Amino acid sequence: MSHLPISPAAPATSPAATDASGGASRATWGSRLGFVLAAAGSAVGLGAVWKFPYVVGQHGGGAFLAVYLGCVLTLGVALLLAEMTVGRLTGQSITTALHTLGGRAWAWVGRIATFNAFAILSFYVVVGGWTVTYLMRAFTGSVLANDTQRLVTEFSAFTANPVASLASMGVFLGLTALIVAAGVQKGIERAGKWLMPALFLLMLLVIARALTLPGAMAGVAWFLTPDFSMISGDTLLEALGLAFFSLSLGAGMIVVYGSYLPRDARLAGSAVWVATLATLACCLAGLMILPAVFAFGVPPDAGPGLTFITMPAIFAQMPFGHAIAIAFFLLLLFAALTSAVSLFEPVAAFLIDEYQWQRGPAVLAVFVATFLFGAPAALSFGVWSDVRLFDRTIFDLMDYVTVNLLMPAGGLCIAIFVGAFIWPKARTVLDGSRAQWFVPVWRVLLLVLTPIAIFGVWYQTF
Ligand code: TRP
Repeated sequence: MSHLPISPAAPATSPAATDASGGASRATWGSRLGFVLAAAGSAVGLGAVWKFPYVVGQHGGGAFLAVYLGCVLTLGVALLLAEMTVGRLTGQSITTALHTLGGRAWAWVGRIATFNAFAILSFYVVVGGWTVTYLMRAFTGSVLANDTQRLVTEFSAFTANPVASLASMGVFLGLTALIVAAGVQKGIERAGKWLMPALFLLMLLVIARALTLPGAMAGVAWFLTPDFSMISGDTLLEALGLAFFSLSLGAGMIVVYGSYLPRDARLAGSAVWVATLATLACCLAGLMILPAVFAFGVPPDAGPGLTFITMPAIFAQMPFGHAIAIAFFLLLLFAALTSAVSLFEPVAAFLIDEYQWQRGPAVLAVFVATFLFGAPAALSFGVWSDVRLFDRTIFDLMDYVTVNLLMPAGGLCIAIFVGAFIWPKARTVLDGSRAQWFVPVWRVLLLVLTPIAIFGVWYQTF
């Protein structure tokens, strides 16, 4: 463990400590790259490829993109840095870290954040299951179809089928649990060093095809030209939530990864890198899906199925489309797994930390609980689609509460904690950094802009 940062007392539950492949390999990454890869592996996932395009689709294109980018560049970077700081100062995962630094009451923020990670995981695995099924369909070739109407019907039939959707969710969740149980996260993150760029390259290839479809330019214009009259309180809330979601903020994830950052790591630079990679993934996904949506005449506000309906139609129009479809869904599955692992690990770590559970039973318990909590979300695309609370299906409600309420709330608490309660200590993480001008800016972002933005947006919406 000698390569680990700061305290030899780094928690036995951090992914670093449970790394089966041995910690020594980590040092060879170089401090900065290792962390950036791990955090980017968590950030880049279904949020970019599945969620971003359909949420942009529902909220009017360019204006939404502008607000989203504004959130990432200000609050996003400031909060990434704040979460890293908490981890870096303590070498602990969120609940323990907040307890150490702030006392008993702050530990509750950590507990709520951990619960939030669990709740996000529960609906994330539903969509992870869709990826598994679409990968299988890519193998058989049945996914390739020109007829978007047929693709819509097939998507609805699959997600409405309780056996198929629960089974594919179970497979995805099982894969996630196996990775966590085997403690091979680090190996997986290292594979991400090749596979994430591969996903980006493949997206570029698909974009090239999507942009040359007849009618695609209308989609590009729609995606890139802001029409600010489209912005309502709800749009702002969704953009804020999505910024948090796509950066894996507000649920204690970055704290855990920050907890094994080496002393000399340049935190500000790392935060900017993670934010850049995550945003780039979102923008690429938008450029891939939205032009095609216009070209094929799919309604942009079709909802959560948008990516799964549109992608097959693009593949069907590409040379080697069959092979590309397989590669795409394989890489997407991988990206989704690295994100799901990063949601699963802190929940298991919580049981191990706080209740001294063994790793095996902890993983099993999280697996079972996630399946039970996620099943209603899966069924809400079919047999339970009529069950509505506050005018939303179970899936939408879980998504809304976790992403738009709990994540910003968690972020707000961390911002105030770092900016006010532990500021003298927190600011030392930027000692020796060339970006000294950023120190006061960071504090203003944490204490002024973050609360104003979050409360302002909530106020507009409720
Ligand atoms: N950022 C991931 C994605 O876009 C999802 C995710 C992983 C996440 N870990 C998280 C979201 C922690 C919030 C908190 O797919």
